[in-house]
Amino acid sequence: MGGRPGICRADCQGKASSFPGLTLVRDRRQAVCVGAAAGPAGGDYVQAWHDVHAGATSMVMSRPRDVSGRTSYELLVDAVPTVDGPVVDMACGDGFLIDALRRRRDLQHVIGVDLNTAELRAARQRLGSGGALLRANATALPFATSSVSVVTAHFSLMLLLPLDDALAEIARALQPAGSLVAVIPGPIREDVPNGWPALRSAFAETHADHPIELPPIQDDRILDPDTRATLLDTAGLTVTTNQRTELIDRTDPAVAFDQLWLTYGPEVFPDSAQTALRDRLRQKLNERTGDDGLVPMVHIVDLVVATSDQRDRRAV
Ligand SMILES: C[S@@+](CC[C@H](N)C(=O)[O-])C[C@H]1O[C@@H](n2cnc3c(N)ncnc32)[C@H](O)[C@@H]1O
Repeated sequence: MGGRPGICRADCQGKASSFPGLTLVRDRRQAVCVGAAAGPAGGDYVQAWHDVHAGATSMVMSRPRDVSGRTSYELLVDAVPTVDGPVVDMACGDGFLIDALRRRRDLQHVIGVDLNTAELRAARQRLGSGGALLRANATALPFATSSVSVVTAHFSLMLLLPLDDALAEIARALQPAGSLVAVIPGPIREDVPNGWPALRSAFAETHADHPIELPPIQDDRILDPDTRATLLDTAGLTVTTNQRTELIDRTDPAVAFDQLWLTYGPEVFPDSAQTALRDRLRQKLNERTGDDGLVPMVHIVDLVVATSDQRDRRAV
């Protein structure tokens, strides 16, 4: 990988998106966020999904807020230390976080990295020609060893597979005492009114009726705080902050449905099963709709800061 920061090496030639056994539908968000044809899927479910739904993560995750009114993106931005060197937003998606980071005057160079061409195209549209964007795999970063001050990762670490390789690569790129600042999804609350478990149970019921093989999506080990600390430690990163926060978005059931449908998974089913899943999901959301006509969408997120050990990796 020999890309120069500032140059998007994305191949922008559009092609129909598909995954073996699955054709992802295009939705209106693609037109809103990308305005271009989806790029090649490359045989990977998550990449095929983002080919079609570029911009979906920020569309959903820019809504829920904590008690002080902050989104998970803002929690992350506030946790990034002041640095002179480059900040790399790992798996930057449509550049929503980069946009927020660039508003901080004490962060000079923010570079977005993502594997997905449709997401990078959406990021280019959001950030304009001044945004530094690179197409690269998290497991093979085009950065010199010990050259990056901060790596940020919003809702992405669990998707970087193989995870151990991606964490090792992040640690390699970080300067000694550099930081990884990440927001990672936490457990789904079932003990309060919440729309999210509606998808989980509707999905499980539909899967029981249509037992198809599910594609690999993420590495759940990073979701557990203890296992996460061990994984990061193995990579040479010491956890210094582990802050759990609850975010909430009270929303119309139709909007809640759209948000839930815009997660990895529903479209793995054939059409008939998708229809059944839709019906179940709508019914479960109606059951969770309050007297105000809104569904509470509760998110738990973990803000994690991990610092690179002091070892000078250039000497290793
Ligand atoms: C859930 S989205 C998060 C996007 C963005 N960070 C946000 O929160 O708005 C996950 C992103 O990870 C990217 N991704 C997945 N695997 C990757 C890999 N191995 N290397 C680089 N990016 C990857 C996807 O293309 C997608 O843009």
